[in-house]
Amino acid sequence: MGLCLKLRTSHVLSAIVILGLLSLRVAECQNKHHHLHNRVNGEYPAINCRKHSAVLTDFGAVGDGKTSNTNAFNAAIQNLSTYASDGGAQRIVPPGKWLTGSFNLTSHFTLFLHKDAVILGTQDESEWPPIPLLPSYGTGRDAPAGWLTSLIFCTNLTDIVITGNNGTIDGQGSTWWKKFRAREYNVTQPYMIEIMYSNQIQISDLTLINSPSWFVIPIYSSNVLVKGLTILAPVDSPNTNGVNPDSCSNTRIEDCFIVSGDDCVAVKSGWDRYGIKVGIPTQHLIIKRLTCISPHNVRAEDITAIDTESGVRIKTAVGRGAYVKDIYVRRMTLKTMKYVSWMAGNYNQHPDPFFDQKAIPEIRGINFRDVVAENVTYPGSLAGIQDDPFTGICISNAAITLTEKPEELLWNCNDISGVTSNVTPKPCALLPEKQDVQIYTSSIGRGGKIMSSHYIYSAYDLYPWRNGEASGL
Ligand SMILES: *[C@@H]1O[C@H](CO)[C@@H](O)[C@H](O)[C@H]1NC(C)=O
Ligand SMILES: *[C@@H]1O[C@H](CO)[C@@H](O)[C@H](O)[C@H]1NC(C)=O
Ligand SMILES: *[C@@H]1O[C@H](CO)[C@@H](O)[C@H](O)[C@H]1NC(C)=O
Ligand SMILES: *[C@@H]1O[C@H](CO)[C@@H](O)[C@H](O)[C@H]1NC(C)=O
Ligand SMILES: *[C@@H]1O[C@H](CO)[C@@H](O)[C@H](O)[C@H]1NC(C)=O
Ligand SMILES: *[C@@H]1O[C@H](CO)[C@@H](O)[C@H](O)[C@H]1NC(C)=O
Repeated sequence: MGLCLKLRTSHVLSAIVILGLLSLRVAECQNKHHHLHNRVNGEYPAINCRKHSAVLTDFGAVGDGKTSNTNAFNAAIQNLSTYASDGGAQRIVPPGKWLTGSFNLTSHFTLFLHKDAVILGTQDESEWPPIPLLPSYGTGRDAPAGWLTSLIFCTNLTDIVITGNNGTIDGQGSTWWKKFRAREYNVTQPYMIEIMYSNQIQISDLTLINSPSWFVIPIYSSNVLVKGLTILAPVDSPNTNGVNPDSCSNTRIEDCFIVSGDDCVAVKSGWDRYGIKVGIPTQHLIIKRLTCISPHNVRAEDITAIDTESGVRIKTAVGRGAYVKDIYVRRMTLKTMKYVSWMAGNYNQHPDPFFDQKAIPEIRGINFRDVVAENVTYPGSLAGIQDDPFTGICISNAAITLTEKPEELLWNCNDISGVTSNVTPKPCALLPEKQDVQIYTSSIGRGGKIMSSHYIYSAYDLYPWRNGEASGL
């Protein structure tokens, strides 16, 4: 517990947030940094480390884009799982169009796509079998008939690599989106890649397009590297979140380019009382060099966002409980957006009406620095919860230029506290200017409340939270 983000080492922040009783803990932070750095940068076995190898066609697959290969994909896994304790195996997907329904992976395994390989998710729904609901979500986001298995599904595995020379996985989502919009479904649209209860995961160097719903979901997992993905879906496609780390530790997301119809990256830890009960935080998460084009949100380090609704957004409400704290976001370049910073304590979407009125979220230590934003309507909408203010908000070196028709009230602040340094336009009175001081926020007095939020970004220590848009979070 109590690690610092990597990005904090070499730069001294130029303002200070004083959090309650906290004293400055610079040295401790840096030591902790190295610890985190090592953990989050853990390397994973390269594909050529696998002792055994097979080509998909060995199992009777036909790459004509029409023949269903679901059985071949699963037969290959059954065969190759026998090598898990003998140096592992890789399965090569050769050039061609490989139509398939859901398939599983196995431990000590690499799924390798040739650059001209395209895995096509079938539009035949019977090839996406039902799967039990996730324990940390309740039923609020699920259609009555439940949930379908993701196209690529892993549970309780270790050491999995899904990679390629930029080969493609195409979820062929258009029929799902059409039905979703027409409200014709009684099932929840499936995901593209879902990894549950697993350890040592690498998903890299692929192009993922048109998922029926979310693209990449590591959940209840640890040591996850998501790198070099190009994720593409129409900006009007429903629920096509890019990467959603949920209840995971030690996750790195880097060098990804995401154009989608929903959040580029959404960090989660369950939803309301279900998330609180399961109680697995998302922690030790680093997001770097992400380029995002989406109508919704983005976060973290070296971020470029264009035409999005907001830069970094935190949504929470009474009932979500848990916490969002010690979030560091820096070097954001933002262009044309409604909000640079948007925090809302009244995001009242719940899985059911029985949420705990005493589950008060704790939001503290939210740091932004080195932000350049152009053509902005609203520099900040920062609204905490009455009697539960969001504290330790620190914004430094932010140059925000406004659109021709900005909001009249540029900074809308209530129930928050914090400081700013070198921010234009001038922030609200609740975020006074502090010059020439160093910022150090550190987590204090842990073990207090357990809370939840929604949508965290670039964070390092989040706790059960969950997100919401009723249509599909
Ligand atoms: C796996 O496939 C190989 C080669 O096709 C074959 O020799 C072997 O018998 C298969 N193993 C199993 C367990 O099916
Ligand atoms: C895939 O894994 C799930 C969960 O372990 C299991 O229920 C399902 O039967 C597996 N599918 C196949 C085709 O083996
Ligand atoms: C869902 O729809 C399918 C066919 O569209 C139907 O067979 C099934 O009974 C429905 N299930 C529920 C729970 O409504
Ligand atoms: C997977 O791991 C979880 C958590 O440890 C456990 O509850 C579940 O029973 C396991 N599932 C299988 C299929 O082994
Ligand atoms: C991978 O393919 C996508 C889609 O064609 C392309 O935009 C991207 O630049 C490619 N990435 C690499 C590293 O070649
Ligand atoms: C600025 O933002 C407005 C929306 O607020 C948009 O209509 C306009 O095209 C943007 N201008 C530029 C130069 O991007």
